Amino acid sequence: MAVLVTGGLGYIGSHTAVALIEKGIKVVICDDLSNSDINALDRIFKITNVRPKFHKTDLKDYKKTELIFKRNSIDAVIHFAGYKAVGESVEKPVMYYENNLLSTLNLLKAMKKFNVKNFVFSSSATVYKVSDIMPLKENFPLAQTNPYGRSKYFIEEILHDVCISDKNMNVAALRYFNPIGAHKSGLLGENPNGIPNNLMPFITKVAIGKFDKLKVFGNDYPTKDGTGVRDYIHVLDLAKGHICALEKLKEKPGFFVCNLGTGKGYSVLEIVKEFEKQSGVEIPYEITKRRPGDIAECYADCEKAEKELGFKAEYSLADMCRDSWNFQKNNPEGYKSVQ
Ligand code: WQD
Repeated sequence: MAVLVTGGLGYIGSHTAVALIEKGIKVVICDDLSNSDINALDRIFKITNVRPKFHKTDLKDYKKTELIFKRNSIDAVIHFAGYKAVGESVEKPVMYYENNLLSTLNLLKAMKKFNVKNFVFSSSATVYKVSDIMPLKENFPLAQTNPYGRSKYFIEEILHDVCISDKNMNVAALRYFNPIGAHKSGLLGENPNGIPNNLMPFITKVAIGKFDKLKVFGNDYPTKDGTGVRDYIHVLDLAKGHICALEKLKEKPGFFVCNLGTGKGYSVLEIVKEFEKQSGVEIPYEITKRRPGDIAECYADCEKAEKELGFKAEYSLADMCRDSWNFQKNNPEGYKSVQ
């Protein structure tokens, strides 16, 4: 039996695939390579000495999605595949809803046909209503401000409905906060196409000289130093959280939602300072106006994950900065730079 990892050559998917293989779990990967690199497969092999079966698949094509289940004996799906740029989702809502929702519906159709009953879903803290009250608990109000976040919310609702209709279905919807960091080997890491939207991949590109400075989007927020505060979690901790979620599904919980974060919030300037300390590289920055749609603070309540998943993040901010830098330093052009 195997675990199908959709989007398994992407940032979180590839790290989770490694964690699964290291647990002795057979992995099958599908990815459409729209925001990932086939070289990640070689990196997974170099780290684990295992080359998972790979299917280049657009999950919006049901026949191709079904073929994965015909060719492999799948007993669980971890679903990472999806578009995830908040700003792009505002410009292209139909593209986001079609891709993120249709791929999930096709997976669920194929799972029903092949009697696959276990599903772990990559959800996001962006499903939460903007709140001044922190930390965010799973039972806090949900309201989204962009099509990306709404697509994650819609999928959570679809999965809940499926669990109501089929008492044998078990789903874990994991609400990620801010994943950063990289595999300790420096062989896997965040490898975004084009100009990074997110903070850490932009900082590492400044550190290798690709950009001359970081723009800090506003320092007039009601936070410790005026800059945005987020709950950064090491991607290795996030991968471990998915292993815990697969174990949880053996308890047949039906529909289960929980945060994956550290419970600690760090500001942009704290990230810059820690990155400079760990890398020894100065990160010049300029304070600019706020980025539309950004919020002041966002960090997780981790109690449910600790009590019901047995999950607690272990890596520190120093680890996250050191490992992000190690990957970028060793892969200045991403996966294409080092064979
Ligand atoms: C973090 C902080 C910015 C870039 C997004 C998605 C969320 C999730 C994680 C998928 C904020 C500041 C950033 C820059 C900056 N992705 N910043 N200069 O916005 O918290 O969350 O990524 O699930 O869904 O919304 O992450 O890394 O973009 O920003 O000052 O060049 O860094 O204002 O305070 P965010 P981020």
